[in-house]
Amino acid sequence: MRVQVAIIGAGPAGLMLGQLLHRAGIDTLILERRSQAHVLSRIRAGILEEGTADVLRRAGAAERFAREALRHEGFEIAHPGGRLRIDLGGPTGGKAVHVYGQTEVTADLMAARRAAGAPTVYEAEDVEICDFAGARPRVAWREGALRREARCDLIAGCDGFRGVSRASAPPAALTTFERAYPFGWLGLLADVPPCAPELIYASHARGFALCSMRSPSRSRYYIQVPAGERVESWSDQRFWDELRARLPKTAGEAVVTGPALEKSIAPLRSFVAEPLVFGRLALAGDAAHIVPPTGAKGLNLAASDVHYLAEAAEATLAGEAAALADYSRRALARIWKAERFSWWMTTLLHTFEGEDGFSVRLREAELAGLCGSAARRAEVAENYVGLPF
Ligand code: APR
Ligand code: PHB
Repeated sequence: MRVQVAIIGAGPAGLMLGQLLHRAGIDTLILERRSQAHVLSRIRAGILEEGTADVLRRAGAAERFAREALRHEGFEIAHPGGRLRIDLGGPTGGKAVHVYGQTEVTADLMAARRAAGAPTVYEAEDVEICDFAGARPRVAWREGALRREARCDLIAGCDGFRGVSRASAPPAALTTFERAYPFGWLGLLADVPPCAPELIYASHARGFALCSMRSPSRSRYYIQVPAGERVESWSDQRFWDELRARLPKTAGEAVVTGPALEKSIAPLRSFVAEPLVFGRLALAGDAAHIVPPTGAKGLNLAASDVHYLAEAAEATLAGEAAALADYSRRALARIWKAERFSWWMTTLLHTFEGEDGFSVRLREAELAGLCGSAARRAEVAENYVGLPF
């Protein structure tokens, strides 16, 4: 079998790339380790930048998004000194973000790919990526007892943080940068109306909390928990009690509780791999970088990577030798800005076990600075809505 671009991973990055390339007349094969049902059962983030919405439109997968997404023109930061609204539109010439679950993005992209008749192999086992140092790379995988192989011009590693792509890069050519945080987020999804019309990021002495949503009748809440915490230790009731204890009084009183549809703990990490390209292998999305969820940059970075990579893939197939190296440079420049913002927002809003009084005062001063300065808030707004591609 022969295909122009082999894509490893059917998460948002792989699926968006597949659609952009399809629309550019380039044929792709996606190899995904898990079943389609499994991929669709993962609950992830839910805030899309305008640039991400634009990628979805160009991917031909934005019809339901246009009907159902909620446009948000601001969010709140609750802190011990009060509540601060970050206006997104004013400082950014009218930009906003869109509330729409990553699970829905994935489902819409899968449907668009099906309609395009482009092939995806789910439950592809033992995926191997080979010979990407030269001009004739290959991918190999197993389907049951059958060993299969495809030749291609380019391999896109969109297989997440624990995928095979980055692990296949020559170690001597790869540099990684990492920060681990001593806490995770315990998330709960429930069919209850949100406690407020906009998201609330809450900094509290008991730990961080976030009130988010998926629709007017579905809420997503998170609380900071120590690293290593087990989800089994958190009954729904314990979660709701702790959430309320960390919110301002009026918001806490407005929380409507209900049975959890999903409850899980995600560790927080910052991670970047450099470069993103090794011969004819290019990394994108979580395979290339991880951001802590504070600021909701994970899915949006996957979209901007894919935007750059689709352009570079087209140019490479047209014979432009430097296009892939350009992809790595352009994408990394934007990635590091989002890494900085996510790290900053995480540091600003969470408590750190064992931190000294000096650190606490710095955080209070940072919050007071934001409250007192429209210029500082404008900078937050600019980053939150997403820097230009
Ligand atoms: N072979 C084939 N597929 C694989 C392999 C492998 N060896 N390893 C992982 N995969 C698949 C995973 O099963 C998953 O479906 O690659 C896909 C990667 O998808 P995501 O983890 O969703 O990553 P990405 O597409 O980059 O999307 C980034 O997802 O994790 C969130 O916060 C992140 O929102 C961001 C977005
Ligand atoms: C979510 O709705 O899941 C969400 C929203 C904002 C974030 C992170 C996660 O910063």
